[in-house]
Amino acid sequence: MGIKITGVGHYVPDFIVTNDDLAKIVDTSDDWITQRTGIKRRRIATGELAYQMGAKAAKEALKDAGQSIDDIDMILVSTITPDCFTPSIACLIGNELGTKTAVAMDLNAACSGYIYAMDIARNFLETGAYRNILIVSTEIISRVIDYSDRTTCVLFGDGAGATVVTRSNGIYSSSLGGNPSGAYKLFAKMKHHKNPWSLAQENYEMDKVNDFSYGHISMEGEEIFKFAALTLPKVVQSVLKQANLTLDELDLLVPHQANIRILQAANRRLKLPEEKLYVGIEDYGNISSACIPLGLWHLKKEGKLKNHDKICIAGFGAGLTYGAIVFEW
Ligand code: UT7
Repeated sequence: MGIKITGVGHYVPDFIVTNDDLAKIVDTSDDWITQRTGIKRRRIATGELAYQMGAKAAKEALKDAGQSIDDIDMILVSTITPDCFTPSIACLIGNELGTKTAVAMDLNAACSGYIYAMDIARNFLETGAYRNILIVSTEIISRVIDYSDRTTCVLFGDGAGATVVTRSNGIYSSSLGGNPSGAYKLFAKMKHHKNPWSLAQENYEMDKVNDFSYGHISMEGEEIFKFAALTLPKVVQSVLKQANLTLDELDLLVPHQANIRILQAANRRLKLPEEKLYVGIEDYGNISSACIPLGLWHLKKEGKLKNHDKICIAGFGAGLTYGAIVFEW
């Protein structure tokens, strides 16, 4: 059983922060950021909440699908920056959209979140339990960024993407993976309230992490870079093999957007022609799990997705997590 994306939506904040804007607050430059990452600007939320951004993307996706919220059996949200501990953002989005029946839940697989969500959705569709699933990826990464740390603050942005998925007879293959031994390589520590019986400071397994500042992303950039540049081509090749497809038969690769140099390094192995590799990092930076659905929205708007095109989406991120899916448009 395959899946069909029947609708795509997006939301990005209006506020744009350019590389020159960042150079006014940290020791960096447009030249450094452009050459080392491919990023020129990013959208930053100035008051929006993640569920509000996700709900806007979801409404657009439903409209695009010609469906209403009553057609949706399940809402799956991927995010690493939820608005609250509980309920899930999926419930807040469901409330905003007006459903009284949809199953709603969040998942956190960092930048691979949309890939994981799509595969979970496909499995629920396959059981026959659900007909239509709304997948929303909504991220306010600026919430977990230390804007005095030039090694991370230039990389990320905010935004949301949403898709409505249903069953189809098209091809579908997935290859998901993880390596939790890299769990501390990209980390944002939470602040917890102490209960009246707490005796000591909470300690993470790694001493290094205990020195991190609360609520801010710390990253071993070079390590993540190597992991991503090696994993991306491998997982794409593996999912294509599983689907019995060659790289020549693939119409489009829509990868997670973390750094243009990661995409270039991956493509030195894959050797896809330029027009088959989606690159959207220049305008948005890294929006974690929202990069891929936002990319699909752009591609659809630009008329670059045709019926039965074979699309591969592929992601990698904190956790460490990774995965790729090949499906028919
Ligand atoms: O979604 C997954 C999450 N993250 C990623 O995928 C990120 C993966 N990693 C990367 O994209 C790259 O490793 C970075 C963009 C984070 C760093 O690029 P790099 O080419 O590996 O730079 P570097 O860390 O080797 O640093 C080179 C120099 C250093 O200075 P020194 O020690 O050579 O004097 C850094 O301090 O560049 C300096 N630097 C900067 N300079 C200007 C680091 N950040 C900046 C900056 N502006 N923003």
